[in-house]
Amino acid sequence: MDLMSTKSPRGPIILAIESSCDDTSAAVIINRNIHSNIIYSQTIHEAFGGVVPELASRKHEQKIVPVVDQAIKQAEIQLEDIDAIAFTKGPGLVGSLLVGLCFAKSLALALNVPMIDVNHMQAHALSCLIEYRDIHFPIICMTVSGGHTQLVYIKSELDMEVLGTTIDDAAGEAFDKAAKMLGLDYPGGPMIDELSKDGDPLKFTFSKPRIDGFDYSFSGLKTSILYFLQKQSLLNKNFIQENLADLCASIQHTIISILMDKLDKLIKVHPVKGVAIAGGVSANSGLRSAVITYGSKMNIPVFIPSFQYCTDNAAMIAHIAHYKFLKNQFCDQNVEPVVKNYSL
Ligand code: KG4
Ligand code: ZN
Repeated sequence: MDLMSTKSPRGPIILAIESSCDDTSAAVIINRNIHSNIIYSQTIHEAFGGVVPELASRKHEQKIVPVVDQAIKQAEIQLEDIDAIAFTKGPGLVGSLLVGLCFAKSLALALNVPMIDVNHMQAHALSCLIEYRDIHFPIICMTVSGGHTQLVYIKSELDMEVLGTTIDDAAGEAFDKAAKMLGLDYPGGPMIDELSKDGDPLKFTFSKPRIDGFDYSFSGLKTSILYFLQKQSLLNKNFIQENLADLCASIQHTIISILMDKLDKLIKVHPVKGVAIAGGVSANSGLRSAVITYGSKMNIPVFIPSFQYCTDNAAMIAHIAHYKFLKNQFCDQNVEPVVKNYSL
């Protein structure tokens, strides 16, 4: 598609909406440049120790209009300037996805513009490209979030394949469940990261999975932490409080080495020209430095998104939508949400 078929000579202007889980987000992208990325993170779930789907969809319903409004204002555009509306089709919570999808359908009808459906996992995997322009394919992206752990082989912007995934818990879940055992609030990943800074990562050793191929497993680690804490707490009821920083650092170190071992194994079989990380857990300071160290050791460029593009955000949805727009890949009004992972 050439620039003449867009409303503005500035190139395609796309409004994107992300509502797959507990963040209500809207972004405006103009000719591949992000002009706004508004994220409302729902805090209502903290009291429940996890995301409550019914509450999430109700909150999205309340927040979607002000969030979109702010995205439009910050990008300094009018609704009439928009060439297409993008939204997250899945995977995610059905009620949450439906809020974004129905909003996108209504606005697309009202403005008489096409819609672009975006796979949330594909958007995470490509989020490193929002800020880095000079990327040579193929690259591997390790997408690590609260719901997913994937090793994605990216051949070009819209051509990618999942080569490894978790067979049980996701990396973020491993962080959150370990944090819960340590008595930390949900989501515990950022707290473990913070406390780890004062701890010894080699103080305690936890079991690592032995899984063939490129898949991950974190359920064994969870059990290993649980039994260890139960045993030590019987001997000293203050064991957790007295060793909190060392426990956090050791757990974080184990999760990172599980992640990095598989990445290394995959890259030795499928050589790449770059390594990226994405998803909420890519905000982890230990993982970020492990990937940087690995990149220098292997002499491979490393792409790490800034924090606002690590966790769920609409900019990453807008970014994929830009490439789909250029290829005329639109969807119709009958589109439905997809709850489970679907092919990238
Ligand atoms: O991508 P995300 O915002 O939501 C989805 O799951 O899709 O990821 C949230 C996950 C949570 O499990 C949270 O604990 C984890 O990312 N997380 C972290 C850090 N920041 C967020 N885990 C470890 N260290 C962090 N700094
Ligand atoms: Zn996500």
